[in-house]
Amino acid sequence: MPNTLSLTQYIQDHYCKTLHELAKVASPSGVILELGVGSWGSGVWICSGAAEGTNCPVYGIDNFSMEGTSVLQVLDSMKDRGYSENLLVMSTYNAHRIWNCPISLLFIDADHSYEACYNDFQWFYPSVIHDGFIVFHDSEQQEVKRVIKEVSEFLCDDVEMLDADGRGCYFAKKK
Ligand SMILES: C[S@@+](CC[C@H](N)C(=O)[O-])C[C@H]1O[C@@H](n2cnc3c(N)ncnc32)[C@H](O)[C@@H]1O
Repeated sequence: MPNTLSLTQYIQDHYCKTLHELAKVASPSGVILELGVGSWGSGVWICSGAAEGTNCPVYGIDNFSMEGTSVLQVLDSMKDRGYSENLLVMSTYNAHRIWNCPISLLFIDADHSYEACYNDFQWFYPSVIHDGFIVFHDSEQQEVKRVIKEVSEFLCDDVEMLDADGRGCYFAKKK
């Protein structure tokens, strides 16, 4: 598996590309978990990466509380492309109470408030395996940035990327 720094050569100009490349190398000894699936396609990029790479199973958690998001839209766009993401339609709070699976790639992109983002990290980070990836989307947003700063002592080999839209995508590998 390439190390985190060599992965940077793959990074192009969009956070979905980052996700795609990380999903390709995510260890199948865990699963990929997306917190905040939405309807903008991150899940498709993750599933396509996993399919091209290690075939790591993909899970997504979303309560579809955000206007414009819909579980049917996600299921349809996955089906059209021949991918499947295992969706848990619930809050990250409820999900963390039943979650018991090792995680190879944790993508945090649900509620971006400081408290919610910090909780999402704290609830799911213990399940991230050694050499697993943690990705925060929108890392330039003040509250997300604050979470990253506070948890960075747990993270190593960290690299910050900004995509072409100026929306940050920060990722790190667990020690
Ligand atoms: C920014 S969107 C996700 C975008 C998606 N990851 C992408 O890049 O295409 C955030 C999503 O998180 C969901 N969400 C917000 N708070 C949540 C919570 N507490 N538990 C679960 N999902 C939540 C919203 O319904 C929304 O679909």
